[in-house]
Amino acid sequence: MNVVQTFDYRRVRTDFPILATEVRGKPLTYLDSAATVQKPLAVIESVDRYYRAENSNIHRGVHYLSEQATDTYEATRAKAATFIGATDPDEVIFTSGTTEGINLIAHGFTESVLQAGDEILITHMEHHANIVPWQIAAQKTGAVLKVVPVDDDGVLNMEAYIALLSKRTKLVSVVHVSNSLGTINPVKKIIEHAHALKVPVLVDGAQSTPHMSVDVVDLGCDFFVFSGHKVCGPTGIGVLWGKREWLEQLPPYQSGGDMIEKVDFDGTTYKEIPGKFEAGTPHIAGVIGLGAAFDYLNGLDRSGALQHELELLKAATEQLTAIDGLRIIGTAPEKASVISFLIDDIHPHDIGTFLDAGGIAIRAGHHCTQPLLKRFGVPATARASFAFYNNFEDVERLVAALNRMKQFFC
Ligand code: ALA
Repeated sequence: MNVVQTFDYRRVRTDFPILATEVRGKPLTYLDSAATVQKPLAVIESVDRYYRAENSNIHRGVHYLSEQATDTYEATRAKAATFIGATDPDEVIFTSGTTEGINLIAHGFTESVLQAGDEILITHMEHHANIVPWQIAAQKTGAVLKVVPVDDDGVLNMEAYIALLSKRTKLVSVVHVSNSLGTINPVKKIIEHAHALKVPVLVDGAQSTPHMSVDVVDLGCDFFVFSGHKVCGPTGIGVLWGKREWLEQLPPYQSGGDMIEKVDFDGTTYKEIPGKFEAGTPHIAGVIGLGAAFDYLNGLDRSGALQHELELLKAATEQLTAIDGLRIIGTAPEKASVISFLIDDIHPHDIGTFLDAGGIAIRAGHHCTQPLLKRFGVPATARASFAFYNNFEDVERLVAALNRMKQFFC
């Protein structure tokens, strides 16, 4: 793989056909990459090629196409492991996305680990996908959900975290990068503290994998989950990585075909990992597209891409802050390129609608983090999120449109 060592966002932009399109008669300014990342042509073509010329079911076929599809599927498992610094492809489970990965672990802990009085520790900045499965696990087992607070900048209170950790804690589940605030959490330190008490840690990497290279071995986590569609891959596909000893211990999440070793009416035995956790025909096209996405990202200078995103974040933060009445929610020193904001008392949905008329796509709402926004005393924010393919013109268009909007509303 030839890695282009100098990151050239102008060239990279041309890899994404959608970025050359117009919406509402205006050039598309796509600032909603925290919701989903656009797809490079290589990914689009890989899915197209699969359905046109390679479509076949995996693992159980005895013909050419099935063998090819199985090989590509399993090769992507190895690529997924490498993408997050893991060494054993068997520790990679394909899921439908981050949400299913967390649900799989929550189900396993409910069935085989948690007991009444145990504690599950999450943070105030979790996505609903890392809150609700644990609430259900707690309801079913009598375990207690504890929440680490965040300060007014959106930084995790590490002293409170350390104080909340105890022998009762059976799992820490923490977001790597907040989708609403952009805060990058010190997950390595979080894991060190948890492991000192032999507490396993799940890291939600949905918003970190799009921006930075991740190394689960260096982080030391026990589980890591992320979504394909946020790393340039298709929707409906994701990755759960877990340490072998944990995955072997946890029970299957779903059951049926392809996850069994032997079925009899007297009882059933399951495949070894990863098969035990992949019941039924999986999202083969999604896995193949995800493999193309890994190849694409591996061909980029990812540290250069991150540097470019941080320059966009700096420029956007400076220019947005200069707008009278604009308030940024989430001002942690360690941030990814996500900016949540409010302007005067204009409703975020009105901001989103006004920007949309100019071809600018942002997200407005609670971003699936209602408890976090409640903590900041707001029901919703407008959120602009930048990827490596954005440029400084995107920032200028956003700022100019917001200035026009102020004249319109005020
Ligand atoms: N969780 C995604 C977001 O933050 C959908 O927009």
